[in-house]
Amino acid sequence: MGEKTGFRGAGLAERAWLAIERLLSGVVESEYNPLYYLGAISIFFLWIILVTGVYLFLFYDISARGAYASVQSLTITQWYLGGVMRSLHRYASDGLIITMLLHAFRCFITGRYRHWRWLAWVSGVAIAWVVWIGGIFGYWMVWDERAKLIATLSARMIESIPIFGLPLSLNFARVESLTDQLFYIILFIHFSTAFLLFILILVHIVRVTRAVINPPRVAAYGIIIALLALSFIKPALSGAPADLKRLSEAVPFDWLFMFIFPFLNWVSARSLWGFIVATTLILAVVPWLGRRNRKPPAKVALENCTGCELCMEDCPYQAIMMRPRTDGLSYPLEAAVVDKRCASCGICVGACDYKAIDLPDMTEGTVKAEIARLASELKEKAEGRRVVVFACAKGPGPGLLSGGNGTINGLDWARVVALPCIGMLQPSMISSALDKGVDGVFIASCAQGDCHYRKGADWLSARLAGFRPPVVKKSLDRSRIRIEYLSAVEGDAFIKGLTAFREGLKARS
Ligand code: HEM
Ligand code: SF4
Ligand code: SF4
Repeated sequence: MGEKTGFRGAGLAERAWLAIERLLSGVVESEYNPLYYLGAISIFFLWIILVTGVYLFLFYDISARGAYASVQSLTITQWYLGGVMRSLHRYASDGLIITMLLHAFRCFITGRYRHWRWLAWVSGVAIAWVVWIGGIFGYWMVWDERAKLIATLSARMIESIPIFGLPLSLNFARVESLTDQLFYIILFIHFSTAFLLFILILVHIVRVTRAVINPPRVAAYGIIIALLALSFIKPALSGAPADLKRLSEAVPFDWLFMFIFPFLNWVSARSLWGFIVATTLILAVVPWLGRRNRKPPAKVALENCTGCELCMEDCPYQAIMMRPRTDGLSYPLEAAVVDKRCASCGICVGACDYKAIDLPDMTEGTVKAEIARLASELKEKAEGRRVVVFACAKGPGPGLLSGGNGTINGLDWARVVALPCIGMLQPSMISSALDKGVDGVFIASCAQGDCHYRKGADWLSARLAGFRPPVVKKSLDRSRIRIEYLSAVEGDAFIKGLTAFREGLKARS
């Protein structure tokens, strides 16, 4: 079917990931599935890190001799607050690494990193390194045996960069030579990473309309409870104080932050830098590798545009600007598409009530002509109740099509119109199908909370419920319309839902 409609089904790796998401959605509601909120959960971890970090700083002694003792006293004498704050700081940082990596992996595996998403991806790569560097310097600050090991290994790395002429490890030769200045620098770097992160996150989401930056409340409470429980069950503690006269003893290893150091056993610091730089560059150019053809951007038909701003409100990637009228019509504003940012999702087509914006390769007109064609074919060939299905190209619908004619294997009473995003479904398309004599309209949206174009499923649900213009006409018989939210791996549920819907239609008088 892919060749006929131009929509690509999910690949094997993506389907495996979607199956995991589906499993989790079976345990928690789909709209609360944490895998759909990994970016927002990462921001939540960052807030915890920030608040607890400020508290820890109030008691931190920025000196070579005082750092260890101040952290120790906070952990032990104030275990009920300072100790908990420290544990929350540590575990939220670990949590951040995990959710950040899962978020990046998810964007990659579901193909959400190319074209208009490049800025989010490239800034994401920068964010990942800043998070990691922040964590490494956080461990330094404790100045226990683990900090000494990290300090020694990272000093080897830093010294190998030709611009840092000073042999940093000389600092670690004797405890007396450790300067307070060094601790000020460590603290400065640690703080700067937090500041830099917030700036990078602003860049990260600058082209995302109404970015989801807060996880659902239930997930936030769950995270706080889990972190608190962990803090009491296994509080974050220091090791023995760093003793520079002794060789490092075995220290607990935090793989999430220290994963890079074991490589120093096999390669030189310079080679390791080479590897880090090469990996970073490859990751940064990933959006431009193996690039697939991009669909043409949306086009505005100015003569129909009233400047109502609905398309701009609904566009998920800030690809529509409103500007002063250029054609002399009496409306003050007109819509203009920023081609490079356009995802060709068609959500703006669904938002426009004036036929003023269209996807060049799939216009509202061609969709309606297709609806008319399928409706008349159903009338001719099918018995009993007939159904037109509007299917999200990222849902299960397209994968089930056969013959490229809008038909689904074995179901001669249904025909499918596949849309790039279910948000493209203009309410008048639903009316048009029902007006053409079909008995019901079945809408197969992608899973709730997981729209490939972020907002399409939400906007359509709101249009159906009458909360968001353009609304689906109140006069339409709602029992003839059904929406189901299904991911690409839910083909069986799609067929089951569609068949049950038709049975319901049959039962009607
Ligand atoms: C602290 C770490 C990170 C945070 C807090 C974060 C946060 C976010 C947020 C809030 C969004 C918008 C979600 C939405 O409303 O649709 C987002 C999107 C995105 N992030 Fe991240 N992110 C982080 C790290 C990364 C990393 C490491 C990568 C990849 C290298 C990445 C790649 C992306 C991409 C490609 C999008 C766009 C997804 C889309 O358009 O559907 N992020 N991120
Ligand atoms: S929704 Fe349609 S009429 Fe309104 S501004 Fe956009 S293109 Fe113009
Ligand atoms: S097709 Fe999608 S991304 Fe492009 S302008 Fe319309 S709503 Fe925005």
